[in-house]
Amino acid sequence: MIDDLQHLEINALAELEQSTNEDQAQAVRTKYLGRKGLLTTLLRNIAQVPDDEKPLFGKRCNEAKDILSAKIDEVLLQQLLRKKSEGLLKEKIDVTIPGRIIKFGRVHPVIQIRREICAIFASFGFSIVEGPEVELDYYNFEALNIPKDHPARDMQDTFYIEENIVLRTHTSPVQVRIMEKIQPPVRILSPGRVYRRDSDVSHTPMFHQIEGLLVDKGVSFADLKGMLTAFLKKIFGMNTKLRFRPSFFPFTEPSAEVDIRCVMCGGSGCRVCGQSGWLEILGSGMVDPAVFHNVGYDSEEYTGFAFGLGLERIAMLKYGVSDIRLFFENDIRFLKQF
Ligand code: PHE
Repeated sequence: MIDDLQHLEINALAELEQSTNEDQAQAVRTKYLGRKGLLTTLLRNIAQVPDDEKPLFGKRCNEAKDILSAKIDEVLLQQLLRKKSEGLLKEKIDVTIPGRIIKFGRVHPVIQIRREICAIFASFGFSIVEGPEVELDYYNFEALNIPKDHPARDMQDTFYIEENIVLRTHTSPVQVRIMEKIQPPVRILSPGRVYRRDSDVSHTPMFHQIEGLLVDKGVSFADLKGMLTAFLKKIFGMNTKLRFRPSFFPFTEPSAEVDIRCVMCGGSGCRVCGQSGWLEILGSGMVDPAVFHNVGYDSEEYTGFAFGLGLERIAMLKYGVSDIRLFFENDIRFLKQF
């Protein structure tokens, strides 16, 4: 019987050695140490052992059980650790792989200028409003005191959709739409796209304008001058020299164009300013009583001023861009400079 015990011990350890996973190791435990296991059965048969050998046999059997059981636990633990480290190896992160470059988008330079101008006028108490790009002839022209046969229509070469529907040629129709809806005081700023049949280094068929309108009791030309001066100095710098030059628009009277000292040559004359030393920046004027009449405002009670400016032009001057078409070519190399 002692021999049987030795055989069992050797076989059990050999089988355990060969087990490669938890199930196999547990099977060894069942086979030898389970309730009907080989070692358990052997011990149960102690009755057949001669009496004087019984104590030794019992002792050896129990020792064998303890050793086998401890070995199985050890093997299971090792298997578990191996499994874990294999899993970790599979999940290993290679921290030396170069990272993926995240490309950031940018705000288009024209939109940057729009935001800047809107923020300045918002600080002057203006609200931002928008109007339709496909506009009635009435709002684009008639209500702004530009009747059908008026020569001023030639100032803006128009895209016609139908006889009385146009792509707006300026943002001024928004003035009329707003004044039809609300009573003074009015302080609005209206940015948006406008369209003219025109195309060269300084003109594109679509471009952006911002319209401003202020109406209240007692608004004078001095207010126009003061506000536009403050605005242009904020955009172009506090030392910017300005001049207000008499001009004509059918919807303002008197009208003025505002020029700044040429940002390229500082006034000595260059190609950009056409040797004049000045750059035309915006159109403005006191709202013509005829426009007030069209929207039902009493021009005896209220006065106001309006102005309009082209965003691409401002962006070109501010950033030193010589061809307006660059803004619309979507060339990343150009756009990422701003
Ligand atoms: N709408 C004019 C233009 O496009 C600009 C302007 C706006 C002039 C408001 C005076 C007052 O040229």
